[in-house]
Amino acid sequence: MSDKTFPVSKEFADQAHINHAKYEEMYARSINDPDAFWAEQANEYVTWFKPWKKTVDWSFAQADLHINWFTEAKLNVSYNCIDRHLEKRGDQTAIIWEGDSPEDTRLISYRELHKEVCQLANVLKERGVKKGDRVSLYMPMIPEATFAMLACTRIGAVHSIVFGGFSPEALSSRIQDSDCSVVITADQSMRGGKRVPLKANADVALKTCPSVHTCIVVKRGGDPIEWTEGRDVWYHDEVAKASVDCEPEQMDSEDPLFILYTSGSTGTPKGVLHTTGGYLVQAAMSHKTVFDYKDGDVYWCTADVGWVTGHTYIVYGPLTNGATTVMFEGIPSYPDMSRFWQIIDKHQVNIFYTAPTAIRSLMAAGNEPVEKTSRASLRVLGTVGEPINPEAWDWYHNVIGGGRCPIVDTWWQTETGGHMMTPLPGVNDLKPGSAMQPFFGVSPVLLDDEGNVIEGNPAAGNLAIDRPWPGAIRGVYGDPKRFYETYFAMFPGYYFTGDGARRDEDGHYWITGRVDDVLNISGHRLGTAEIEAALGLHPKVAEAAVVGYPHDLTGQGIYAYVTPMNGEVGTDELKAELIATVRKEIGPIAKVNIIQWSPGLPKTRSGKIMRRILRKIATNEIDSMGDTSTLAEPSVVDDLVAHRENT
Ligand code: WTA
Repeated sequence: MSDKTFPVSKEFADQAHINHAKYEEMYARSINDPDAFWAEQANEYVTWFKPWKKTVDWSFAQADLHINWFTEAKLNVSYNCIDRHLEKRGDQTAIIWEGDSPEDTRLISYRELHKEVCQLANVLKERGVKKGDRVSLYMPMIPEATFAMLACTRIGAVHSIVFGGFSPEALSSRIQDSDCSVVITADQSMRGGKRVPLKANADVALKTCPSVHTCIVVKRGGDPIEWTEGRDVWYHDEVAKASVDCEPEQMDSEDPLFILYTSGSTGTPKGVLHTTGGYLVQAAMSHKTVFDYKDGDVYWCTADVGWVTGHTYIVYGPLTNGATTVMFEGIPSYPDMSRFWQIIDKHQVNIFYTAPTAIRSLMAAGNEPVEKTSRASLRVLGTVGEPINPEAWDWYHNVIGGGRCPIVDTWWQTETGGHMMTPLPGVNDLKPGSAMQPFFGVSPVLLDDEGNVIEGNPAAGNLAIDRPWPGAIRGVYGDPKRFYETYFAMFPGYYFTGDGARRDEDGHYWITGRVDDVLNISGHRLGTAEIEAALGLHPKVAEAAVVGYPHDLTGQGIYAYVTPMNGEVGTDELKAELIATVRKEIGPIAKVNIIQWSPGLPKTRSGKIMRRILRKIATNEIDSMGDTSTLAEPSVVDDLVAHRENT
């Protein structure tokens, strides 16, 4: 926490869409009269083919759990992102694509976007894809990824994007869970001058996915690949043959739009389901108000489309608003540590949205790579994904933004679809590290562990939301029971976020991190259960327990306690094998930092592993370990403490 504040400048507030008084007025209306408020926003941001009957119809109760926004209304997402802009901005650049190599740039106008999307939509139709069918995307950050998302929405297919850094195993389980019939991928992806063999990975995955009859392959890297006749087709061949006309499907507001897998406390990753109308309203409205986006701005979000930030804030929000959105294929350190800032100058980026982990790693490279660029075009900066530490905030503000750009620290989740708590750039005197206040329509509460609402300020507790917002998760794909149990069972009547938060004396919110068994590694969510399951696949592992610990660069690191089989002694060789097993099962983002050989794990008498104790050992807070008397074998703790690894 930092007690410095950075006052909003009068100049910025005067030109902003929303200033302090307007926020107060709009927020009050969004809570006191949500029907009228959201009806107004829905008409302002989205074009509907048919109006709705009810703005919102909902219940968080177990027997009747449902969230419906803009009931019975009809719309189409690709129509909103493309067609309706054609008359006024057909020649305007919709996507600025910046390749891995600085020589590779492509500008795509709204008119070209329309053609590309219609053609690909027709290819999907020819391959038998119908409204409601699921299509899996396993793609590099190339324009075709956006075309594919929009082509799905055009015909009412439901996309499920799997981040290109995930392993074949992870891809396969996601394809199977959502029963996809088509996969769209590329031969290789290019990142930092290196190639990732996406198609080869997909080939491995598809061995266990009998539901997939078509694999559409974009040529990107150009290296040779294996080919399965009948199943595999080249993207460019098929698109070249397809018609450029494709009527957008009339979708119901509550028809599924996409599935995106994310990690939770228990079990395998779950398919978070988002639907059409409410999601799009929230995406567009938050993109415009949170970033103070104005017509003509160049906007850049550095996320990957494999994550929710890429869905909402590279594609759906900006394109619904007719913006120019930058899509970057590469990484911040290639060809050198100056790349982000060079791209900002090259394309005159006005709004820049990235993750604290990227800021920290660039900060570690010093100011020189930054100072050789101008960045004078920047007006608003944003962060997302994890709490930002005050040093990184200061550096972002002073060195990157030259002290003149407000920073919006946006707290939200895959499940929330769009921003939930964030400063607005024309509204707040900023407090580094604070997500400040709820977005419109969001009604947060802090609950104690018994589920009682904690009133007054300051306060701290479990962060929950007491009513639905338009972009809210509508289900866990194929598993209604898990939907209720994951989000609504812990505190009946509330959506539970899994995060803890503090409210300061002024009523501003500070997210303190996950209170469940979800880790946040470089802004990527990983469940401890998934990592433990991967470790358990190794034949020499009897048992494993995983916790997080604070890590300077990645926010959190992975600390694994592993019990080898048959009381054997662990070796460095086995450590390396285990690290490789987890990487293979989940993907390179799941990098185990520390393995401690553990002859036993602390368990309750009923056999439940007490992670609270393991967390304390990992973070070297032995003195505040709390009561260990309920353990089946208290002595295992002494052994773990004696052999803890330095973090
Ligand atoms: C964390 C990413 C602090 C939080 C959009 C949340 C944050 C999880 C912030 C969701 C922030 C996200 N400050 N923590 N500004 N933004 N988080 O689903 O723990 O990948 O629950 O969505 O990231 O991660 P997810």
